[in-house]
Amino acid sequence: MAQAEFSAEELAQGDALFRSAWEFVLSAPSHEFLPPMRGLEVAFAGRSNVGKSSLINALVGHRGLARTSNTPGRTQELNYFRHPRRDVFIVDMPGYGFAQAPKEKVAAWTELVKGFLRGRQNLARVFLLVDARHGLKAVDEEIMALLDTAAVSYQAVLTKADKVKPHELARVIGSVEEKLATHAAAYPFLIVTSSETGLGIPDLRAATAQLLAERGA
Ligand code: GTP
Ligand code: MG
Repeated sequence: MAQAEFSAEELAQGDALFRSAWEFVLSAPSHEFLPPMRGLEVAFAGRSNVGKSSLINALVGHRGLARTSNTPGRTQELNYFRHPRRDVFIVDMPGYGFAQAPKEKVAAWTELVKGFLRGRQNLARVFLLVDARHGLKAVDEEIMALLDTAAVSYQAVLTKADKVKPHELARVIGSVEEKLATHAAAYPFLIVTSSETGLGIPDLRAATAQLLAERGA
């Protein structure tokens, strides 16, 4: 288990993939609004407020593409973005584990997220975002167990690395890696990011390009 490292060529491929202007496609509040399964999808999952929408904006280099907020529970639908010329989609998901929201809302988001992760056949990978200040929580492990069972490949991405001191970051990386090693469908490389400083964004782009190349997309 280690942090991902990419060659100059892989980084260039990632850069090329995200140089184009990605577009908003649709917002699905429930399963019946999902687009037909076509091409490949990459989903961003994680606890409420972990920084999913911000990371997508950093990735595509467009601050306002996905809506972000200081308050948890901003993203309430499955939001689709696509590459302008390829059948490749990024899915921004509602967060899970937001205890302060009304019970019915939490239940609806959780059902939407779990149903999607379990049953989407063209889902090539899930980026599982983990706040660098907090590490993995029980609710993350529940999602990881679901992904293991559904055999959906996922990769852990630490967010908000700018908010922690280097020694604290090293400690969290160690503890996340240790837990990942016990999960069958977890990708063995962790990516450390900050949407604020741009740390790890080229790596995340390269990881996405590499994945699409592997899948022949
Ligand atoms: P939900 O849609 O509510 O689940 O949240 P989300 O996971 O999409 O989080 P979002 O991107 O809306 O970000 C939540 C808050 O964290 C916002 O105030 C962001 O500005 C902040 N944030 C996100 N990424 C970073 C980061 O890398 N560093 C710092 N310092 N703040 C960040
Ligand atoms: Mg969001």
